Amino acid sequence: MMAKLNWALTVLLVASIAILLWVRRNYGEPNIQVEILPNMAHSPAYASFTPNPVLPDGKTLQLPVPGTLPRGPQPLDLGTTPAETMHAAEQLKNPLDPAKAKVRGAVVYQNFCTPCHGGSMRGDGMVPQHGFPAPPSLLSAHSVGLSEGQMFHILTYGQNKMPSYAVQLSVDDRWSVIAYVKSSQPAATAPAATPAAATVPTGGIAK
Ligand code: HEC
Repeated sequence: MMAKLNWALTVLLVASIAILLWVRRNYGEPNIQVEILPNMAHSPAYASFTPNPVLPDGKTLQLPVPGTLPRGPQPLDLGTTPAETMHAAEQLKNPLDPAKAKVRGAVVYQNFCTPCHGGSMRGDGMVPQHGFPAPPSLLSAHSVGLSEGQMFHILTYGQNKMPSYAVQLSVDDRWSVIAYVKSSQPAATAPAATPAAATVPTGGIAK
């Protein structure tokens, strides 16, 4: 009896080793068992912008629930015309604490603005020195007269030869660099040209 059982177990052992060697599973591949149910391995998902027979409105991508708060950068709800820049002047206020923001703003300015506007803010960076049209001095009466909202519009959409910085700079970084530029500008001299009063210089940059 015992001998028979031993024989049977030996045959079973050899057979299972033989089967293992024969199957030689590639462990990088999905399990065979799962592939028997291919819908579990590759779920039949609808692409976002395709019709959907399951949902009541027939669309795969559903609208967010009313009252949903968007996250991340918000598109600016303003056009690109000069008139819209003036709307920006009225509507957009710097949400950051100026004292803190200008510290970060100095870094942003150094990295993104000095190539054209120069460390002095007078428009004498390396790029204009090599032939690019020189930007106006950010310390000029015109620039001092720009409100923070107008500057935000310029940084977001660009203005003439000044490129848009919406991709390179987060919303907070745009407001930070604006706080820094404002803190470096001299006080406004011509009130008529100033939609919003400029802040008093803190002496970070020579006038
Ligand atoms: C590629 C070069 C370039 C870079 C980089 C650049 N600017 Fe400018 N910027 C210009 C030019 C050129 C103008 C003039 C645009 C015009 O003719 O209206 C300008 C205009 C401006 C104005 C409007 C000035 C005015 O009086 O109308 C502001 C504000 C400004 N830039 C801020 C910035 C800030 C802040 C940065 C860094 C985030 C920056 N710029 C980076 C080229 C540049």
